[in-house]
Amino acid sequence: MTAPAPLLELHGIAKRFGASRALAGVHFSLQRGEIHALCGENGAGKSTLMKIIDGIHAPDEGEIRLNGERVTVGGPAHAMRLGIGLVHQEIALCGDATVAENIFMPEISTRPRAWMDYASLNARAAQVLRRLGQRIDPSLRVDDLGISSQQLVEIAKALTLDCKVLILDEPTAALTEVESVALFRVLHDLKAQGIGIIYISHRMAEIFQHSDRVTVLRDGRDVLCARIGDITPDALVRSMVGRDLGSYYPPRQAACDEPAESILEVEDIADGVSVHGISFTLRRGEILGISGLMGAGRSELAETICGLRRARRGAVRLRGAPLRLRRYGDALRHGIAYLSEDRKAAGLFLDLPIEQNVSSMALGRISSRFGLLRRQAERRLAVDLGARLKLKSDGVAIDAASLSGGNQQKVAIAKLLATQPAVLLMDEPTRGVDVGAKSEIHHILRDLANQGVGVVVISSELPEIIGLCDRALVIRDGRLAGELAASDMTEERLLRLASGLSAEETIRCPN
Ligand SMILES: Nc1ncnc2c1ncn2[C@@H]1O[C@H](COP(=O)(O)OP(=O)(O)OP(=O)(O)O)[C@@H](O)[C@H]1O
Ligand SMILES: [Mg+2]
Repeated sequence: MTAPAPLLELHGIAKRFGASRALAGVHFSLQRGEIHALCGENGAGKSTLMKIIDGIHAPDEGEIRLNGERVTVGGPAHAMRLGIGLVHQEIALCGDATVAENIFMPEISTRPRAWMDYASLNARAAQVLRRLGQRIDPSLRVDDLGISSQQLVEIAKALTLDCKVLILDEPTAALTEVESVALFRVLHDLKAQGIGIIYISHRMAEIFQHSDRVTVLRDGRDVLCARIGDITPDALVRSMVGRDLGSYYPPRQAACDEPAESILEVEDIADGVSVHGISFTLRRGEILGISGLMGAGRSELAETICGLRRARRGAVRLRGAPLRLRRYGDALRHGIAYLSEDRKAAGLFLDLPIEQNVSSMALGRISSRFGLLRRQAERRLAVDLGARLKLKSDGVAIDAASLSGGNQQKVAIAKLLATQPAVLLMDEPTRGVDVGAKSEIHHILRDLANQGVGVVVISSELPEIIGLCDRALVIRDGRLAGELAASDMTEERLLRLASGLSAEETIRCPN
């Protein structure tokens, strides 16, 4: 008897965008009841390959087989009828519609609005969200949710489809450890029902914990496919970046007897909604981590410090001088720069060239004495910062929209570095960034710190907080739940502080 055909097979898939070759003959297979991780550097072609399976892009060459039968996928709606569902890397929800409307969009779009039973729609949405351990109110507008809740709504939407093949493009990039655990529990349930899952991630620990097989793409080719038990993390990284990475994290600053002078002091700051009186001091040359669960108020804290949110009380002092921050422009002028966790909405102008994005907050640096923009200088700035961050793109004159997700993140970082800040507030700086580039960004942050910049890193990745930061604050419910020195940081201690558990209680994720 011959073995049944794999659930999904790709043979020799090739795809070009203009002059650039995104995929150069990729082979891939997915079995029923398998969690198959897809990894590779930023720009390796992962999202493009998934969009080809979903029918968003037509391949230039190659074929797709579903249960052994050759198929031509005409588009996402056709893919859905074939039992293929894709959760996109970039959140693509309708911001004006409610959570429930978004989750059931495919169903609603075929029915007149007047015929909708909203009470039952909301109840069904709440039920799906509960599977993910979430209590998001289904009647809220999506625009009013934070980015991680939006990501969960996007995932919930895919769970309502009757998929045979479920593709998740970096589903955990915007999630903290606790929500990721809930997501993986659902994925293991689906796997037990025979569903094949392709899951893209840059998080090594997750890949080794949850997947059955892993495929690596490099420069548009599949360079490795292995059972997870047959490969080590080092070997996986090597096959992604084509070299040994050495140490992931840069060495910390040497402890000196005299603590460095403070650069930023935040005193009892509150926004009246999510931040309820937080105080801390950031020192010159320090990388201060901010950890906490989703919704703890970490991003809101950074937004309040830099004038994006109105402070109801409290004070911010830069080198001892009190600041009046009415808007973000005030903070920037003083040398406080902020990287938003939502690069699509707040970080980048996607339809502008890379170079204009990079210079957009530093026009003073590239203007002549008479206020004229010097295009040459603008280009040089973008090229230099691009090289420093190892940006993968066809020059700096192309639109940011055509970059892969991780490379867009690098442009958002370059834009901040261009302002030569004294204080950097970075909200999830390495979200969606591959292991090699992540290590580059960590080294750049450490270099900046060594030059005297004060760096704040908000991160949902506990290993990043532990590996990179000199000290970490843990925020819970808008208040400071604790502080840990580098030598005291462990994942468990950070999680306990974040969730408010005593040393005796065991850590569990929400139902
Ligand atoms: N619509 C497009 N137009 C032009 N080029 C594109 C387009 N989409 C992708 N590319 C290019 O194709 C290559 C592969 O991009 P892709 O988004 O598939 O990478 P990725 O592996 O998903 O990376 P990341 O980890 O950063 O998400 C990149 O060089 C990218 O710039
Ligand atoms: Mg991608």
